[in-house]
Amino acid sequence: MERTQNMTKKDETLAQKVLVFGRIVCKYKVPQEFVDDINQKYEDALENTNLLTSHGKNLAGRLDSELNILPIIQTSRIFKFITQCMSDYINTCVEHGTVSPGPHNLDILSCWMNDMKPGEYNPVHTHNENLGYSANLYLKIPEFINDVTEPHKFKDGRITFIGPDARGCESYMPEPGDFYVFQADHMHCVYPFKTKDPNAIRRSMPINFIINNSVRGEEIKNV
Ligand SMILES: [Fe+2]
Repeated sequence: MERTQNMTKKDETLAQKVLVFGRIVCKYKVPQEFVDDINQKYEDALENTNLLTSHGKNLAGRLDSELNILPIIQTSRIFKFITQCMSDYINTCVEHGTVSPGPHNLDILSCWMNDMKPGEYNPVHTHNENLGYSANLYLKIPEFINDVTEPHKFKDGRITFIGPDARGCESYMPEPGDFYVFQADHMHCVYPFKTKDPNAIRRSMPINFIINNSVRGEEIKNV
């Protein structure tokens, strides 16, 4: 478990987009150098170590490769940036009145890599038994084949958020560096995709985190 420090001041420039449709979703852009760095560290660990263990038994995805990456991100260059985004998200929730004012401590509970191959999918699901918050960083997106002949509502390979009443949904085409933060109970899914290259990978890195303002059961008083 990794704790981020108290962060109270909202960074006005951080969030690229705040989408509110019943629930708050913030989209951030992670610099490409951090994306390259974490991709490299993950691939090195895959190739040269047995550090990475499967997180798949805890997850909904119909994927072969879902590896726990928490030990790697904590020492990576990306870590500070993504925790700032997560704090900014909580501050956005405070602004919208869904979280009481902080400062708040955030605990990262889990972080893993989804290497999704053509034809694999992630069914409609929520995270962490609907408790806390989640994020997803896109690290590799192959070129999808779009062979639909009609304007379908459901989009291959996109992140699709489902509205609280389960009637509407919104799909977003991910790009490397896109970092979405949302409530853990916000239903979402990824429909399968097709690519020209059968070995192409759609790589994303989900995170589950919570607000935890206590140490060994004692609430931290804000003074
Ligand atoms: Fe998910």
